[in-house]
Amino acid sequence: MRSTFSTRMGAIAAAAGSAIGLGNIWRFPYMTGENGGAAFLLIYLGAVLVLGIPLMIAELLIGRTAHADVAGSFRKLLPDTKWYWVGAVSVFVAVVILGFYSVISGWTLEYTWRALTNDFQASVASAQLVTPEAQASQILTMDFNAFAQSQLPPVLWASLFIAINAFILLGGVQKGIERASNILMPILLLLLVALCVNSLTLPGASEGLKFLFEPDFSKVTGQTVLAACGQAFFSMSVGMGCLIIYGSYMGDSTKLGKTALSVAALDTFIALLAGITIFPACYSYGITPNAGPSLIFITLPSVFVAMPGGYFWALLFFVLVTLAALTSTMSLLEAEVTFFNETVGLSRRRAILLSSLITWVFCIVSSLSLGIWDGYRIAGLNFFDFCDFVTSSVFMPLGAAAISLFVGWKLDRQIVRDAITNCNEDSGWYVLPLIWALRIFCPAIIFLIFLKGIGLIPDAI
Ligand code: PFF
Repeated sequence: MRSTFSTRMGAIAAAAGSAIGLGNIWRFPYMTGENGGAAFLLIYLGAVLVLGIPLMIAELLIGRTAHADVAGSFRKLLPDTKWYWVGAVSVFVAVVILGFYSVISGWTLEYTWRALTNDFQASVASAQLVTPEAQASQILTMDFNAFAQSQLPPVLWASLFIAINAFILLGGVQKGIERASNILMPILLLLLVALCVNSLTLPGASEGLKFLFEPDFSKVTGQTVLAACGQAFFSMSVGMGCLIIYGSYMGDSTKLGKTALSVAALDTFIALLAGITIFPACYSYGITPNAGPSLIFITLPSVFVAMPGGYFWALLFFVLVTLAALTSTMSLLEAEVTFFNETVGLSRRRAILLSSLITWVFCIVSSLSLGIWDGYRIAGLNFFDFCDFVTSSVFMPLGAAAISLFVGWKLDRQIVRDAITNCNEDSGWYVLPLIWALRIFCPAIIFLIFLKGIGLIPDAI
């Protein structure tokens, strides 16, 4: 018998765990910082509503109806067609994302260790003994670059991270994924609320809030809109089948619309809390929060070094980021595992071992490509950046479009209606608007994101 989540809350915690991750706490704040603050935020909220939620319902619906792995779900719902390949390619995309995502997750482990051993303070103090005029941010930038470009330490941390994932998945759906999500998600929320309250009490916090909540539409370009849509996909985990897998573990009484709404609301809430934590802290210490991807590894440690109680807050913060990364990587690894288990026919244990090994190889190459293998380039990018680019700009939009078209045009309308209304138990007022959104609106917008992503729409638009 195939496993299912034991409770509705467990299902929501697991799906929210997949959605809430580095995308919320690392990517959302720096994307907001780079794209002009509140105006980006408003567009992002729009993208969650009109793209993210319909796509999330579509993925959960495919999984919950088929109760199979990603590739198997397409084959079960539309046998003897090529749609099966959408699922198979999604599994490959999960491998690639997990490869570089676990490198960053490994960094979060290293930074948790540094916070625990008070390394930020110590490193700044010892460097300033030699060069008194050196600023904390310069010293921490050098520390970060030296670490990320080194060979063994990042690979070891990432390997540990993959091993933790494999260990949790060995527990199975209820005792592994569901239990871990039920424990980790409330902890994550508590940590973030504590950090957020601390940030709000810092002097000058209101400047940071203004940046996040006062929109300046003169900064909005086509680029801002597309970046916001891309961020919504990444953050909500749509476009590559992880939610199909979690949908496949949902019982037949789970309400898909409500589940998608709850997960989307939690995901957005956490991203907002992360913004409310990070921007006031940066402004309070006179550090501009537009640093890009290094925001949480350089900018924030600089803030923690200057902040009273910085040791404690830094530790809380990096534990938080690590937990968030963990619940997301679990869903990515599970997408691989179920493929090898159900479609290829390996036992679950072997599937976990094989998936971890494949992920590990991608992760080693990704990590080394930031250092000694930086010279090997694909389309001008090192392997790490190339993986990030092809997944978020090419495969996730294409996967999302395929899933949208599949549910909108290919699935029998009665199947969609039955899944949404739980066979007429609930109202299905939004079935028709949903189907039309999935038929036309979502694919059209996704197509634009795709063109922009691969550079076919000029930057000026
Ligand atoms: N949603 C995750 C985050 O915000 O970090 C990242 C992610 C997980 C993307 C799972 C895609 C996915 F299938």
